[in-house]
Amino acid sequence: MSAKKKILVTGGAGFIGSNTVKLLCDYGHSVKVIDDLSFGYEKFVDKRAKFYKASIVDEKILEKALEGVDVVMHFAAFSIIKFSFDNPLSYIENNVINGVKLLESMRNAGVKKIIFSSSASVYGEPKEIPVKEDQIKKPMQPYGASKLAFESILNAYYHSFGIESVSLRYFNAYGPHDEQKPPTRAVPLWIKGALAGKSVKLYWGGKQFRDYVFVKDIAEAHIAVMDLPGCNIFNIGSGSGVIMRDVLEEIVKITGKKLEIIDQGERPGDPMKLVADISMIYKSVGWKPKTNLHDGLVKTIEYYKKSLK
Ligand SMILES: NC(=O)c1ccc[n+]([C@@H]2O[C@H](COP(=O)([O-])OP(=O)(O)OC[C@H]3O[C@@H](n4cnc5c(N)ncnc54)[C@H](O)[C@@H]3O)[C@@H](O)[C@H]2O)c1
Repeated sequence: MSAKKKILVTGGAGFIGSNTVKLLCDYGHSVKVIDDLSFGYEKFVDKRAKFYKASIVDEKILEKALEGVDVVMHFAAFSIIKFSFDNPLSYIENNVINGVKLLESMRNAGVKKIIFSSSASVYGEPKEIPVKEDQIKKPMQPYGASKLAFESILNAYYHSFGIESVSLRYFNAYGPHDEQKPPTRAVPLWIKGALAGKSVKLYWGGKQFRDYVFVKDIAEAHIAVMDLPGCNIFNIGSGSGVIMRDVLEEIVKITGKKLEIIDQGERPGDPMKLVADISMIYKSVGWKPKTNLHDGLVKTIEYYKKSLK
């Protein structure tokens, strides 16, 4: 267990950020959160954390928020893949340029470490499954390209300015607090549909092969890599693949509801197979996920049952 740290979490009112903030507080770290609430919710921010409602480009607030900080965990980004086709420029601006502004504020404040939320979408359609970190990267959407660009910038900031970094390429995250505006991800849409007894939609007949990782395991990964020196990149997944249709069947089984399933056919930018090789992070810091898909879905369904009341 790493020594108690002062951590600034950008995007800590969002889905994965807010779960990580809670875990950091549980472990006794001192946590500050900066989020402009463009997509997050203040109610998701753990009360033990200090909250700044601001954008990461607000230099004045950031200067205050970065005071005394050991590590920045950078979740803030535009994360809805679909919209990156409609407005690629805004994705590059927020996910790359604003990220560089954050790095410059870190440099001014003398903060030397950042953990970055990257994505499996950097790979595009991988040649081999499970995909290892050094496989060729060919992102298929502006979103994936923005994540790959920022990883590259982090490499440059390490060699140029000594800012250490860990880029964590999450595969398919699921769990409590996944409340996109508007919702686009399959698991929450399917759970909400099942609980309401409504029809649910899937693409490609639900045949895509994916790697679902529970959000608390992702949060644990951030804590596991906090003391790692240098400039590192790791996959964060469960390490085993599942056909999306089977995830839906599992939700149907757990909720005990019958659903009408509508197949929407093909969708651009969707790789057919995306499963992580997670051996590198395990060898490096001993992280592996603890929650299997069934247990993670049970917890997620419990959350939505309560939140929809
Ligand atoms: N959810 C996934 O499956 C997944 C997979 C791979 C990578 N990621 C990445 O993980 C990170 C977190 O994803 P999420 O699903 O929690 O998304 P999210 O949209 O729930 O959280 C992002 C948060 O960042 C905030 N934000 C955005 N731009 C900001 C800015 N300029 N200044 C301050 N706050 C800003 C939003 O208000 C939101 O609360 C993102 O970087 C996303 O790209 C997510």
